[in-house]
Amino acid sequence: MASNVEISLENLAREANLDPLSPEFARYLDKQDKLAYLREEFFIPSVQDVLPENEDKPRGPYKAEEDCIYLCGNSLGLLPKKAKQYVEEELDVWAHSGVHAHHHHKHGRPWVTIDEEVCKLSASIVGGKPIEVASMATLTSNLHFLLTAFYKPTEKRHKILMEYKAFPSDHYAVESQIKYHGFDPVKSLVTVAPREGEYTIRTEDILKAIEAEGDSVAVVLFSGIQYYTGQFFEIEKITEAAHKKGCIAGFDLAHAVGNVPLQLHDWDVDFACWCTYKYLNSGPGGIGGLFVHERFAHDFDRPRFSGWWGHNKTTRFQMNSVSDPLPGAAGFQMSNPSVLTTVSLLGGLELFEKASMKELRQKSLLLTGYLEFLLDQLFDKSTFSIMTPRDPSQRGCQLSFLFGEDVKELYHQLSSSGVVCDIREPNSIRIAPVPLYNSFSDVYKFISLLRSIKQQ
Ligand SMILES: *Cc1c(COP(=O)(O)O)cnc(C)c1O
Ligand SMILES: *[C@@H]1O[C@H](CO)[C@@H](O)[C@H](O)[C@H]1NC(C)=O
Repeated sequence: MASNVEISLENLAREANLDPLSPEFARYLDKQDKLAYLREEFFIPSVQDVLPENEDKPRGPYKAEEDCIYLCGNSLGLLPKKAKQYVEEELDVWAHSGVHAHHHHKHGRPWVTIDEEVCKLSASIVGGKPIEVASMATLTSNLHFLLTAFYKPTEKRHKILMEYKAFPSDHYAVESQIKYHGFDPVKSLVTVAPREGEYTIRTEDILKAIEAEGDSVAVVLFSGIQYYTGQFFEIEKITEAAHKKGCIAGFDLAHAVGNVPLQLHDWDVDFACWCTYKYLNSGPGGIGGLFVHERFAHDFDRPRFSGWWGHNKTTRFQMNSVSDPLPGAAGFQMSNPSVLTTVSLLGGLELFEKASMKELRQKSLLLTGYLEFLLDQLFDKSTFSIMTPRDPSQRGCQLSFLFGEDVKELYHQLSSSGVVCDIREPNSIRIAPVPLYNSFSDVYKFISLLRSIKQQ
């Protein structure tokens, strides 16, 4: 059955009197794209820039000085020009003002409150209230800090239920939390897997597992979007099922934030955390984010690891020894935030003010739909399978390919021609056209290269 996106692509091509499989049609889609101007806000490496070591010339057909075909925003987003500007400004402020810049800052960003704007913008991207969002530390650390507060195992309720083959860091974090509390991961870690012969996990199976195990589950922890398959989990339904059984519902939004619209507050999610260097483009090791639902804003009885930055701002610098944690997510902060990574994130987040998540999602559906359309039209079904759900509402921008053979050579050929994408050995690659900076022509160029490699 033809999807809506496929139908609208065919209609668009008919209206423009163009062959939907032609490069002219890709250029036409770029011309029609109201968000195309955002690409100018990024540094796009050239083909030459991204060639593998030991290769001094691209294999072609794309020229060395052309923009590379960057389809790896799921791993590391490109550098926004504003992020570079802000980081350079901060270095300059540091050079000239030193410690004074904590309070007097020539660009109006005093360091003591450097995270405020970032929190406000992040809250709008994840669908949280300002009191529910904090900007701090990094993803895996934040996951640990949140589990410290929300995973309180008892003999009766000691399990963490999560997706099968979660991102390894999450798996390690959860196992170590279980052990830290004196329980045994063999008994306390439960995973929900795809059915035999399927790549993604059916929501009904997740809900059934929660129903079956729920009485002994303390925390249900899923990713928002599965990093490997690209499946967008049904956060609201999972949360509802978890709550019905008296479990806490937490989410790792590494691949979801900035990729798909989120409504964490309305979905009633208890806690969530994310990194910012993927779809929020904050740069490698960028500062992380976390969400704690408003209903816990004044719940100071949960165990938590405290630090001075989570302390009442009025009295923080009185340096007394009586902890007075801030209400909400801010109370989870420990250290004064890294200014350089905070402003690099700010540079990326401001772009989400220019284009709302809703507009970005609209473009994303068409852009990834276009990728899928070309794959369906131009490749034999035996070449590879797509692990990502075919239903656009069940995925973000990424499509994950599974090949019948080792992809090292294919990857090498793509890389030597100026494509940046992600390989998971032995036989999968992930392709993520990002609506903020990727064009329809990027997708076309990738497809045309993949075809020529596959036909050799
Ligand atoms: C990218 C990613 C991570 C990386 O964790 P860091 O603490 O930022 O190194 C962890 N979990 C998931 C699900 C991810 O996608
Ligand atoms: C912070 O401390 C001040 C002074 O003690 C107090 O008036 C204020 O209510 C506190 N703020 C919060 C958010 O608790």
